[in-house]
Amino acid sequence: TQLDHIRNFSIVAHIDHGKSTLADRLIQMTGTVAERDMKAQLLDSMDIERERGITIKANSVRIEYPAKDGRTYILNLIDTPGHVDFAYEVSRSMRAVEGSLLVVDASQGVEAQTLANVYQALDAGHEIVPVLNKIDLPAADPDRVKANIEDVIGLDASDAVMISAKSGLGIPDVLEAIVTRLPAPQGERDAPLRAMLVDSWYDSYLGVVVMIRVMDGVIRKGDRIRMMQTNAIYPIDRLAVLKPKMTDIAELGPGEIGVFTASIKQVRDTRVGDTITHERKGCEAPLPGFKPAQPVVFCGLFPVDAADFEDLRDAIEKLALNDASFSYEMETSAALGFGFRCGFLGLLHLEVIRERLEREFDLDLITTAPSVVFKLHMKDGEVRDLHNPADMPDLTYVDHIEEPRIKATIMVPDEYLGDILKLCQDRRGIQLNLTYAGPRAMVEYDLPLAEVVFDFYDRLKSVTKGYASFDYSISEYREDHLVKMSILVNDEPVDALSIMVHRDRAEARGRVMVEKLKELIPRHMFKIPIQAAIGARVIARETLSAMRKDVTAKCYGGDASRKRKLLDKQKEGKKKMRQFGKVEIPQTAFIQALKMD
Ligand code: GTP
Repeated sequence: TQLDHIRNFSIVAHIDHGKSTLADRLIQMTGTVAERDMKAQLLDSMDIERERGITIKANSVRIEYPAKDGRTYILNLIDTPGHVDFAYEVSRSMRAVEGSLLVVDASQGVEAQTLANVYQALDAGHEIVPVLNKIDLPAADPDRVKANIEDVIGLDASDAVMISAKSGLGIPDVLEAIVTRLPAPQGERDAPLRAMLVDSWYDSYLGVVVMIRVMDGVIRKGDRIRMMQTNAIYPIDRLAVLKPKMTDIAELGPGEIGVFTASIKQVRDTRVGDTITHERKGCEAPLPGFKPAQPVVFCGLFPVDAADFEDLRDAIEKLALNDASFSYEMETSAALGFGFRCGFLGLLHLEVIRERLEREFDLDLITTAPSVVFKLHMKDGEVRDLHNPADMPDLTYVDHIEEPRIKATIMVPDEYLGDILKLCQDRRGIQLNLTYAGPRAMVEYDLPLAEVVFDFYDRLKSVTKGYASFDYSISEYREDHLVKMSILVNDEPVDALSIMVHRDRAEARGRVMVEKLKELIPRHMFKIPIQAAIGARVIARETLSAMRKDVTAKCYGGDASRKRKLLDKQKEGKKKMRQFGKVEIPQTAFIQALKMD
């Protein structure tokens, strides 16, 4: 294919502004997929993605479009993940294309994720076509939203394409805009092969599938290729394009996007952002800017029933094959037994993995409090990463502790601004900037990641009734007065509940935690002290009084089947409990106890 007949693009949007619906329409209107095969949100392949309506893995589709100028163009859409946890994947896939459609809900306006993603698109040198979606809604206000795009992003929106992805209105204009307003790719057909590894995934029939964007040169079936980061060599078994079904193709030249299989064993052997070249006569320099994705949030995963440990291990190994950004190692906890310490790109990533483990592998899990990676500067000069508060060494060996800080951008309607400022202040935030775009405020905060990983996002949504949007990037590690707080139940430390906390906030946190635990732990036949402590010093204490719990008492002994049902119910509840010394703690307590509201 000639370069000037190709257009490569991605769609940038805030969650729910209609990215998937628009992608579906583009595929449908160009007849890429027969009508009977069309199902909504075609590009979100995993069940969980469809249910949650989020796109996790970058997917791509190749569309053929006969344009008004009489020529047929090849349009390659790369579907980028919208959420901040996958920012690195977004930035790589952006570099694989030349342009973006910026989709903004015409009844809403620019949101924090729109901003974060559009900046990445601008960084990647994209040409950007603004698209106002949902103009069918009565609340749509295209003029306001155009002004909003110009104010907040500084992008000319006078030529924005107006559409309703839902009804199909304006979709032909989008296709024309892609062809006329986005640039064609560039590249040298005769140069040595240089292709970017954009994404890879595991397919149960095909094994590992690798998606690439060819920059220079030509790749063909049977070629022996080298991955420049890992130096691994593979022969290409199969070369194809996604329509979105895999369709074999003889070769891919400059500007083209496609996939290959090459008997690669695990997704871990492929690195997003890596450069692919030929084994012989390869290119000299790799594409710039490769960096492996780093987990930033860690938590422990334990089976509720210790007998399920091997099943959990199998499941984790299987998932890890397909997700190179998820890390794990075995962990033993005095309280929870054998499990795994797992690293994630962020909270959403954690949620997705946990849900997949529970759903696809039918496991009951205890998730310990998410923690960030602290840097311990030891007195002997060594710097250690602390992934788990339970591993905190004796303070006499520690000189100081650093924690990761983030730069957060929050966009919120004016009337909720006060609540947002208070929330950020409560989480040790430092305000950096405050600007207005019409009735919406945009605040930037410097915040400790540790204060955000847990329930910040939930709180943000609840105090603003869902009207705020939020995005962040890690800025730096900085020293602060951090201490480890332990929780003792019936005088036994429960290691899975220990957290790192700022010294000035330890008492308040400790108080909330012991009060919550008092509510969450059912009464036993003996009195149970619940304490929070820093080292040997107890900073908060509650006592759970003794009681005999007989759930069948109110059945008056009469109805046997009803009685049995209640006992079954109690047994079911038991399954979700975990024994600590003589005390049973419900599985949910580990997360609930840490909430700060
Ligand atoms: P994520 O995949 O979650 O990032 O969201 P998305 O941006 O892909 O949004 P999606 O396409 O899933 O659309 C979100 C919601 O908006 C869905 O309920 C759509 O049916 C609805 N929607 C999309 N386009 C339109 C439109 O043009 N008009 C109206 N009224 N609703 C739309």
